[in-house]
Amino acid sequence: MAIKEYLSEEKIKQRVEELGAEISKDYAGEEVVVVGVLNGSFIFMADLVRQMDLPVKMEFLGASSYGEGTTSSGNVKIHLDLRKDISNHHVLLVEDIVDTGNTIKALQALLSNRNAKSVKVCSFLFKPARLEQDVKIDYLAFEIEDHFVIGYGLDYAGRYRELPYVGIWSEDK
Ligand code: IMP
Repeated sequence: MAIKEYLSEEKIKQRVEELGAEISKDYAGEEVVVVGVLNGSFIFMADLVRQMDLPVKMEFLGASSYGEGTTSSGNVKIHLDLRKDISNHHVLLVEDIVDTGNTIKALQALLSNRNAKSVKVCSFLFKPARLEQDVKIDYLAFEIEDHFVIGYGLDYAGRYRELPYVGIWSEDK
């Protein structure tokens, strides 16, 4: 297998700073509950919240749609729900990547009748080539081509999340 660098550590850092500033401006004066979708979003979320100049609370949701391979099963399992009541709070859902859109759609449905003041989506990556659902991404770091990518939180069969850059994963030698 081979890994080819696609988004450098420097490029990611700069874009996350920009996104943090944009989010801070949009929510100015408001408290936000940032909800990370586990496992993939934890590195992006950790960097993003440190670029946000806002009162922030952090929660996590666990969802998975992939097995050990590189294609989504379309069957989204929620294995960890929020521990806090989000009614009357602004919620910012943080995803690693929107691919088919099935995960974000399932999470929005899960949160829809909990009376949040607002629910917005912030995704690190978006792969429009494989989108199956009508989803709105309010904040996006990078739109990418149809590659299977790893690093900066994203995995292949549980590996490579710790890489500081995003790489294209392939079976080639
Ligand atoms: P979706 O439900 O198809 O939008 O996929 C969402 C989830 O699939 C993401 O949160 C990732 O965990 C995983 N995923 C989709 N594309 C990739 C990829 O290129 N690399 C690693 N994980 C991916």
